[in-house]
Amino acid sequence: MTKIPILIDCDPGHDDAVMLMLAVGSGLFDIKAITTSAGNQTQEKTLKNALKIRDLLKADIPIYRGCEKPLFRQLIIADHVHGEMGLDGPALPEPELAYEATPVVEAMARILIDSPEKITLVPTGPLTNIATLLLAFPEVKSKIERISLMGGGAFRGNITPTAEFNIYVDPEAAAVVFRSGVPITMCGLDVTHKALVFQEDIDRFRAIGNQTGTVIAELMDFFSIYYRRERPELDGGAALHDPCAIAWLIDPTMFTSKPCYVDVELTGTLTLGTTVVDFFDVLKKTPNAELVYDIDRERYIQLIYESVRGLP
Ligand code: RIB
Ligand code: CA
Repeated sequence: MTKIPILIDCDPGHDDAVMLMLAVGSGLFDIKAITTSAGNQTQEKTLKNALKIRDLLKADIPIYRGCEKPLFRQLIIADHVHGEMGLDGPALPEPELAYEATPVVEAMARILIDSPEKITLVPTGPLTNIATLLLAFPEVKSKIERISLMGGGAFRGNITPTAEFNIYVDPEAAAVVFRSGVPITMCGLDVTHKALVFQEDIDRFRAIGNQTGTVIAELMDFFSIYYRRERPELDGGAALHDPCAIAWLIDPTMFTSKPCYVDVELTGTLTLGTTVVDFFDVLKKTPNAELVYDIDRERYIQLIYESVRGLP
């Protein structure tokens, strides 16, 4: 079976780590590279976490260090969710191999230009690297199949009442991406707050018995602390945001989505970083994103479970 060529841009981060497990463990993707964004933690820490997860998965994938901060703003991090190191919980060994020396945007552009086929981008953190790529090398747009991202939300926020973290950290970068004309799948909070992992799922992961099963269980134990304390409306579940962007590429039938016009608020006092989603097509503008807003949670968790089972 022909593997789907992708470039992953992430800020590990607990749910980013599970996204990487799904991407690698599914065996369905030709992962050209992993690039790291500053978001859940500083670039220093998200990069180190990506290197650690690569070792855990025994994956032969080059990793490139991304931008240190948002395009125009100071970096804000999500240590309140992901902890001091950004991947708190399991004790993972220090990385064995280093990241690649090529600057991230040059590396991404080179991979896209040299590829005989279009490549899908899968960003699951702030969109700084993706926006910088599109601004520096606009000609690569013709080599991008789609951007399947985790970010935003039609009717909710998590870092402010209306803004989702990935978009809020770098709203100008998000605006560049949503205004780029590249096809977008938007897995925002509307769907990811239904993509929940519960204690019984964590226990099933732990019972697999391999190293990755133990690590995902320890990651979800830590990740669940925040959600059980701060999101009681989710009934004890933790929102497995980032794997949605990969799962949609594997099997979109487990999701519900619709084409929508989306833009990003850049000047709002209360609404900065909000993805303004025209869900009811009030403006009659041409849709620029496929908004994903529902999920078959059982199928989603089973897909992750089966991928983890095949890993070291
Ligand atoms: O709002 C959720 C998003 O912010 C996820 O990508 C999570 O990893 C954090 O980056
Ligand atoms: Ca993330």
